[in-house]
Amino acid sequence: MISPDKIDAVKNANDIAEVIGGYMTLKRTGANFKAPCPFHQEKTPSFVVSPGKQIYRCFGCGEGGNVFTFVQRMENFSFVEAVKHLAKRAGIEIEESRPDPAFTEKESLLAANRETMNYFHEKFKASEKAIAYAKDRGIDEATIEDFKIGYSPTDVSISVYLKSKGISEETILKAGIVGQGSYDMFRGRFMFPILNLYNDVIGFGGRVFDDSLPKYINSKETPVYIKGRNLYNLNNARKNAQDGAIIIVEGYMDCVTVYAAGIKNTAATLGTALTPDQAKLLKRYAERVVLMYDMDEAGRAGAVRAGDNLFAEGIETAVVSFGDVKDPDDYIKKFGVAALREKIREAEPFMEYRIDRLAKQGDINNAYYKEKVIKEMAELIEKTDSPVVRDNAVKMISKKLFVGYDVVARYFKVKDGLAAQVGPGIDMDDNLALKNKGADAAEKMILSMALNALGTENEAVILKHIQERREMQGMKYEDFKNQVYAELMIKIKTYFKEGEREILKRIEMDYVDNEDINRIISELLVPKISEGTQKKKVHTEDMMQEITDYVTRIQKEKTALEIEDLKQKINAAEAEKNTELLKELLARKSKLQKVMQSIAD
Ligand code: UTP
Ligand code: MN
Repeated sequence: MISPDKIDAVKNANDIAEVIGGYMTLKRTGANFKAPCPFHQEKTPSFVVSPGKQIYRCFGCGEGGNVFTFVQRMENFSFVEAVKHLAKRAGIEIEESRPDPAFTEKESLLAANRETMNYFHEKFKASEKAIAYAKDRGIDEATIEDFKIGYSPTDVSISVYLKSKGISEETILKAGIVGQGSYDMFRGRFMFPILNLYNDVIGFGGRVFDDSLPKYINSKETPVYIKGRNLYNLNNARKNAQDGAIIIVEGYMDCVTVYAAGIKNTAATLGTALTPDQAKLLKRYAERVVLMYDMDEAGRAGAVRAGDNLFAEGIETAVVSFGDVKDPDDYIKKFGVAALREKIREAEPFMEYRIDRLAKQGDINNAYYKEKVIKEMAELIEKTDSPVVRDNAVKMISKKLFVGYDVVARYFKVKDGLAAQVGPGIDMDDNLALKNKGADAAEKMILSMALNALGTENEAVILKHIQERREMQGMKYEDFKNQVYAELMIKIKTYFKEGEREILKRIEMDYVDNEDINRIISELLVPKISEGTQKKKVHTEDMMQEITDYVTRIQKEKTALEIEDLKQKINAAEAEKNTELLKELLARKSKLQKVMQSIAD
């Protein structure tokens, strides 16, 4: 075990910017450095290194951490390996005191698994039966290598082999490679090793070659393998998620065959529903998840559970359907990969899928059932932090169930983002949300419109219009009720004036260490609408009108408050019979009332 003091010393001796600078070219931007992210594909750099905080973070893929995690990720090192590597770099001696028993247990389990994977893979190459089976299932040689597909022989030689490699009987049992009584767990099976994000071999799944049961045998959970926290092939899928999407299938075989067909951003759950932990994991690597489950009842129910968990993490999700074909693997066999790609493009947004399924499970014309559906949907939708997503979902429910928007909205405890006091009817104006609220909401909407305009063709038009209205109405950002919104608006204004071309990125970099502000920004940014879902065209004139309304509202509220304040002072001056002051206050009041009049016009 390496002592915490030693770990600190190693950390202090390795400046993060120097270490990362050894892997790639970093460009200085103010106090920080930036570069294209090494963990995902991108054209413009969103990877930021902060020497002040000794951390890095990518605003594209969400990857982040300290000098150790960086080296772990780059080199596929374990934590201890990363510490040793950096100690060597800095010329620090590492003497490992008492070995940590928990640590050595894990390391030996991983070593046993890795040896087993290699052994099965070698046996695969020597087995005509296994090679023929792979070929029959459409798995080519490159895929066999990428997945280290294996064959577990029937000669019970695995434990002999592992022992020859110095692995103890106890570890072999604990890893679940061999059962009690030296029973070889996977004998005679087609093997899928399971790797985690660090490319550690954490477990196995083995399929029979025929129709006998059980079809699959999976490793039991061990200290290195917790099923609900890992996804099969996520290590490869995340590297191939160029458009930010990861596809999730139900099992090993679908994952491997879909990958072999060229769709490489595919990962699989491991025989269970997608858990909240797995959703969190995906959040780090995917902007969007596409669920491609089996077309049976279990698959449909699984998609709902998975989608609910992904929704709670704020991940945009869509669901693929392919009618009466069983699973993606069969679909490719029947119609080819081009057709499957088309199905993926056409994937249904999860919210629609969710409500359609509920609609099919009862009599949707029955008011009591309708109410039940609305309640269930409300409970789910309230898990989002995004007012925009909430508003959209309410609109959708309203449309699908023929219930007025305001009626649906009544079932929500969280009202932020939901239009207040809108009339009945299901043809909602898209921008009614927040319209009837006070200055706070107006400040938020102006910021939201400015942020969403950044980097689009409307950027200049919108920002100039905001500026113009602001000057005309004498609105000062300093007077904003919400100081964070004010600060962000001032930044946008300043950078725009400077001619900065990537204002959003620049702002994100300024707040690299500020989670609160990051959260506010990402909440206000409307999620990118994916291919396949139709985007309603937003007219700039409408936006300009909206901005004018918001600025007006803010000024009106501010002036009204000032008048209120003056009225109180006037009362006090009257009571004190301070005529001098009274005169002055009355004059100020009438001036403000004129201002109020002019704003209202
Ligand atoms: P399926 O039964 O749908 O198999 O199991 P499949 O993926 O279509 O495989 P092929 O096409 O018949 O070869 C899907 C997943 O459910 C788990 C496995 O993770 C499998 O990949 N499963 C299934 C088990 O764990 N045990 C079983 O006996 C069956
Ligand atoms: Mn199948």
